[in-house]
Amino acid sequence: MAKDPRRVRREPVHSELAARVVDCCRALARFSEEPESTTRTFLSEPMRDVHATLTSWMTRAGMSTRVDGAGNLRGVYAAADPGPAESTRSVPTLLIGSHLDTVPRAGAFDGVLGVVIGIALVEALHGARLTYAIEVVGFSEEEGVRFGVPFIGSRAVAGTLDDDLLERRDAHGRCVAGAISAFGLNPADIPAARAQGPFLGYLEFHIEQGPVLDGLGVPLGIVEAIAGQTRADVVFTGGAGHAGTTPMSHRRDALAAAAEWIAIVEHEAQQRPGLVATVGHVSVEPGAANVIPGRCWATLDVRHADDEARKAAATRLAGAAHEIGSRRAVDVTWTSRLDQPAVAMHAAQIAVLQRAVLRAGVPVCRLVSGAGHDAMIMAPLMPTAMLFLRSPGGLSHHPDEAVREDDVAAALLAGLHVLDELGTVRLWS
Ligand code: GLV
Ligand code: MN
Ligand code: MN
Repeated sequence: MAKDPRRVRREPVHSELAARVVDCCRALARFSEEPESTTRTFLSEPMRDVHATLTSWMTRAGMSTRVDGAGNLRGVYAAADPGPAESTRSVPTLLIGSHLDTVPRAGAFDGVLGVVIGIALVEALHGARLTYAIEVVGFSEEEGVRFGVPFIGSRAVAGTLDDDLLERRDAHGRCVAGAISAFGLNPADIPAARAQGPFLGYLEFHIEQGPVLDGLGVPLGIVEAIAGQTRADVVFTGGAGHAGTTPMSHRRDALAAAAEWIAIVEHEAQQRPGLVATVGHVSVEPGAANVIPGRCWATLDVRHADDEARKAAATRLAGAAHEIGSRRAVDVTWTSRLDQPAVAMHAAQIAVLQRAVLRAGVPVCRLVSGAGHDAMIMAPLMPTAMLFLRSPGGLSHHPDEAVREDDVAAALLAGLHVLDELGTVRLWS
């Protein structure tokens, strides 16, 4: 009997598939730039092994695969043949994705889980073709670790990767375009990475990375909005000198100036509800116990669901850095790296997710994401929604980051209900 392309088979999702999803994420975590921990930045060598592992699963699930010019792994599961009266060009695509890079000393699930769940959902179709295509995307870069600017992969898919970003350099002086070439890809192919419509939407599964769902005892959460982010590099330049002979009154200690400012960053965020602010990386020159620090580089990350509150906080923190600098005769430069507005998820897609979660037997919990996600970049292009999976202990960006197998099974079931509901709409008729 011919398969009805409008319906997704509703077999129970076996816990065996969820177990394979978790095992796959843990196996991918071993592909790392460091022997004892998981660190995988934009197009570093271990990304080849990640691509190879996921490509073979995608192929087994019936997808055609490629790596685009920005290093994103793309697997397409074609739609059912729409028949002679219809053009295949009018068949829409549902994108399911997340990122394959990691922060330093990461856990096994941030990003990767969303890609693996996407492939598992396609496998769970058992070859049934839908009225729309599914493209699973493993974005090459989301964390902003190697080049200080996040979302390289999704910006290429959205068509918003600009020349300034391509020319940014990593700690070894290699630019983004150079990293793409070194991986064996051609930066000239980046424009072809742009996703071609029509789109049904973008769906991202991701661990919550925070304590809300775990605290409530709820396995899944529907994201309503993603908080905006400001990132900046702040450089304090004082004067290096002898730590034993230079009287305290004669010093222009760059690190002491930065330290005073970092305490203000923390205080600012503690005083303002909803604001989080972090100095996550500092480096000091010359960097010896007996030399007064001459220069200190610091990163700043500021987030708030309200863009005006975030921008006002960043302005106050810039003012504080300059005030400290002038009081201590330390030069301060402030370079903005990111001004990413908060992004609301698509109301109709939220409603689809909500019905799917309920059909999966899970209570509905809606929340705002403090973490940034590729969904922020995709949302201006197409109807976008995100489903969070509970993070045990609220832990993420940490080697002990985890996910429960039964929560993965619930997410798979909800995902199949989403595919089912989307498939009931005959979009080309
Ligand atoms: C990504 O994990 C971010 O929110 O920084
Ligand atoms: Mn992350
Ligand atoms: Mn992530």
